[in-house]
Amino acid sequence: MKFFIDTANLSDIKEAQDMGILDGVTTNPSLMAKEGVSGHDNVIKHYQAICDIVDGDVSAEVIATDFEGMVKEGEALAELDDKIVVKIPMIKDGIKAIRYFTDRGIKTNCTLVFSAGQALLAAKAGATYVSPFIGRLDDISTDGMGLIDTIRLIYDNYGYETEILAASVRHPMHIIQCAELGADVMTGPLSAINALLKHPLTDSGLATFLADHSKANS
Ligand code: G3P
Repeated sequence: MKFFIDTANLSDIKEAQDMGILDGVTTNPSLMAKEGVSGHDNVIKHYQAICDIVDGDVSAEVIATDFEGMVKEGEALAELDDKIVVKIPMIKDGIKAIRYFTDRGIKTNCTLVFSAGQALLAAKAGATYVSPFIGRLDDISTDGMGLIDTIRLIYDNYGYETEILAASVRHPMHIIQCAELGADVMTGPLSAINALLKHPLTDSGLATFLADHSKANS
């Protein structure tokens, strides 16, 4: 299972990269705004800074919502670095744009996916990744994890190569359940990744080992 970090925070990206477990980064306009990144040139510079840190795919989202605009923006983003994956919203022009980029060998991430039908369309357009937002489905009392399960079944039925990128991951159990269901990738915040490290028996066991070592060597 690939681990992506869902942030535009350079220090969080560096921390995950330094741990040696990071396979990529996803961003979105809200995450860029959260880091105070604004203005075209600064956004471009920030994507370049992310690409310099991470050894893997970096999703960069288009702002345009019409086909021509998405193609223009996406082509400029893709030229920045081979790591860039053009992130495109799940709308009709977005599907057209995904097909355009797929036909030209440019990687895409179809974002804002909340149903199996949307995921099916993204795969048919040849998206590299499809991003079902599991946390946001859970937020409205819907079964986010059930959607991952259904998309896995559909993609396996037909051998679609689009990778299921479980997005809007909020906590460690989301990551574990995604792994159980066979999501190809999960993207979440550093807090969810770091939470996987934690177990009280690890903490108490390590404390005992160190205390015993210290007694024996004093
Ligand atoms: O990758 C999509 C993600 O950023 C959405 O997460 O927590 O805002 O629902 P969230």
